[in-house]
Amino acid sequence: MEGDIDRILIDQDGLARRVREMAGEIAACYPDEDTGLVLVPILAGSIIFLADLIRHLPMKMKLGMMTVSSYAGAVTASQDASLTRDLNIDITDQHVLVIDDILDTGKTLRLVGQRLRERKPRTLRTAVLLRKPSKAPPDVMADFVGFEIADEFVVGYGLDYDGHYRNYPHIAVLKPEKY
Ligand code: IMP
Ligand code: MG
Repeated sequence: MEGDIDRILIDQDGLARRVREMAGEIAACYPDEDTGLVLVPILAGSIIFLADLIRHLPMKMKLGMMTVSSYAGAVTASQDASLTRDLNIDITDQHVLVIDDILDTGKTLRLVGQRLRERKPRTLRTAVLLRKPSKAPPDVMADFVGFEIADEFVVGYGLDYDGHYRNYPHIAVLKPEKY
């Protein structure tokens, strides 16, 4: 795996520091006595970010999973996002925080936002580890953003290329011949 990596953009220490900081920003937004927080991670890209983030969050919460497919092994968003596994938990009148790995074209979070708003949550916010500002459309906002990155395809820390590299501990760019 290491041999496929061209360069590291954000190393694991930088990720750990920023994720801890983000947890502080998120915790400040949800008072502990205000019960009913539901985190909705978008599988599978958010799993490592989720696991690290929630262990720094002090409040009670539930997790409800959603799976959205957009990239089928491609490095460009050629297809629309589609829901392949819907939420498995009731969010009516709950505080909902969607967790995703990256906000790129915004198709994923636009679809997720539409689906979740139909279920009348009390509040709906979004936290993403990465954002590509050059592509993200103005109608899809993230309330919490870990890092803004340039418009290039990255892997690691949960993000994949064709299913691989999710376990690489840093955010990195692959060698051009690997794409
Ligand atoms: P969007 O729908 O275009 O905003 O893209 C969202 C999804 O595409 C993310 O949840 C990722 O799964 C995937 N994606 C977008 N950019 C990248 C990237 O640079 N590396 C890996 N996956 C990406
Ligand atoms: Mg994803």
